[in-house]
Amino acid sequence: MKKIAADAPQTRSADIVAENVERLKALFPEACAEGKIDFATLKQLLGGEVEEREEKYGLNWHGKRRARQLALTPSTGALRPCPEESVDWDTTQNLMIEGDNLEVLKLLQKSYAGKVKLIYIDPPYNTGNDFVYPDDYRDNIKNYLELTGQTDGENRKLSSNTEASGRFHTDWLNMMYPRLKLAKYLLRRDGVIFISIDDGELPALRLAADDIFGEENFLACFVWKSRQNKDNRTLTGASVDHEYIVCYGNNIRGNVRDQSQYSNLDNDSRGDWISANMVGIATAERRPNLHYDLVNPGTGLNYGCPRMGWRYDRDTMARLIDEKRVLWPANPNGRPRRKAFLSELESDFTGFSTFIGDYIFTRDGTADIDALFDVRLFSFPKPVRLITNLIEQGADGEDIVLDFFAGSGTTGHAVMAQNAADGGKRRYILIQLPELLSTENRDQKTAADFCDRLGKPCNIAELTKERLRRAGNKVRGENPMFAGDIGFRVFRLDTTNIRSWEPDRKDLEGTLLDGIDHIKPDRSEQDILYELLLKLGLDLSAPIETRTVAGKQVRSIGAGVLFACLDENIAREDVEPLAFGITAWRAELTPAGDSTVVFRDSAFADDVAKTNLAAILEQRGLGNVRSL
Ligand SMILES: C[S@@+](CC[C@H](N)C(=O)[O-])C[C@H]1O[C@@H](n2cnc3c(N)ncnc32)[C@H](O)[C@@H]1O
Repeated sequence: MKKIAADAPQTRSADIVAENVERLKALFPEACAEGKIDFATLKQLLGGEVEEREEKYGLNWHGKRRARQLALTPSTGALRPCPEESVDWDTTQNLMIEGDNLEVLKLLQKSYAGKVKLIYIDPPYNTGNDFVYPDDYRDNIKNYLELTGQTDGENRKLSSNTEASGRFHTDWLNMMYPRLKLAKYLLRRDGVIFISIDDGELPALRLAADDIFGEENFLACFVWKSRQNKDNRTLTGASVDHEYIVCYGNNIRGNVRDQSQYSNLDNDSRGDWISANMVGIATAERRPNLHYDLVNPGTGLNYGCPRMGWRYDRDTMARLIDEKRVLWPANPNGRPRRKAFLSELESDFTGFSTFIGDYIFTRDGTADIDALFDVRLFSFPKPVRLITNLIEQGADGEDIVLDFFAGSGTTGHAVMAQNAADGGKRRYILIQLPELLSTENRDQKTAADFCDRLGKPCNIAELTKERLRRAGNKVRGENPMFAGDIGFRVFRLDTTNIRSWEPDRKDLEGTLLDGIDHIKPDRSEQDILYELLLKLGLDLSAPIETRTVAGKQVRSIGAGVLFACLDENIAREDVEPLAFGITAWRAELTPAGDSTVVFRDSAFADDVAKTNLAAILEQRGLGNVRSL
């Protein structure tokens, strides 16, 4: 049985550098020698496309290299579950994560890379009055705990980024760049990101986003008329009545089909077409209405049902057949496909104006939140309707919507409201810093007093959670027929739960700590389960089932992808019944791939018990056995 050592992949968030190298290797195997990239060969393979001049076009600032590096450094933190602060913990698919978004975005990579359909963010605009989070590349988790008042010692204060700092745009870019880079990895291939901003950082944001997402993936810069009445207080005298929402796709070129592939072999009056796939992506348990035998009414040939069903329900399919859009293969073992006409090619943005002037103003955002509370808690939240408009365009079905500068939680509210409006099952992931609120600060006093009244710590993440609780009830109250998800699971960023996984403990491994418990004493079994789950790349809302096997509590996570028994005592006589019980349970669940089984290293009575347990499990097909 192998112990998960400090340098094992399971102790870290995703290793993005290693993934980048793998991608290059797959594209250019000849530029790879003994596991390393041969840069000279790679350059040769790219011909004249390599930019080698020192003065290149693009955005540069002091710290860019470090900012890029910061995104690539794995996190050693963990997300600790907080069921008591959550709503509908057992059933909800929504997540509210309290923490610094840089570390959290790193921790989410293994489970959510390529899975998020829509990201909306409303970062600090860098007006000079807002604070810009200062990352510390040496130990960002310690930095986070200090900045948010979660350490015993002297806490450092978050201060606003003023123009007098001399590094005004630099500080903002250093903060934004690694976060946007990590966000890109989370986006699905057809995903989109919307970023709110004003004139102050629009130019820097556009250039940074061009750099990260690619200029060719720029979709639109929406102008939002955000105020109705003139503002007479500006320095220049001009009343600035708008903000921007900058939008990039993840892979526009890959998604927009090459028009040269369309043709009109059968002289269809609707013009050129290509044949498109109609096979679905959901199992029969999830979408039973998409699983049925497809029969050609003209010939009576039955084409059966693919394993993942069809993309359309029976009624839609009947209409497609009626409109002669279905292509029937002669062989019943073939798959019927659909005619997709060039004239009907649509994107998420077809017909969408880049001017949002339809009377949704900043003050509506204030009214939305005022309707939930009896005091004014948050300055300038975005209007729910502004965000539902974006969500309606860019996400549907069970798509994941992410906001990693959640503030008062408007995006979570908007996801629930839009689901209630159109019956969607979109899920949200929100990330918010527990930014401290002080009763001594005039602007924060009302919110801080409110937290005190609730008996909660005084920070913005508490406001986010309370808004989500109240917004969920309001959406349900206003839509009595809506049976969708109004819950959320809360997680909190912290240091790892496993002592020996901490980077500065590496030296002790195998000596001092061997034989003693590596799990930190103040951490619960649930903390450890969720750390394992995330580092194995499972969904944070994956189901966890508990059974008693040979008198020990065993958990199955993600229907048998991971089994964990963190009991503190495993005697020699427990070994056989425990191993048999786990393998029988796995046989019942039949997970698609390998399963990992994890035990507490210090639990075994002796080495014989440990070795025997691993051997029995291996004999029965469970070779991935680890200890903590
Ligand atoms: C402009 S507000 C977002 C408002 C939000 N759109 C709404 O409608 O309520 C930006 C938020 O980002 C949070 N924030 C700033 N830096 C952060 C970081 N490093 N990690 C997580 N949240 C952060 C701030 O605390 C602030 O609440």
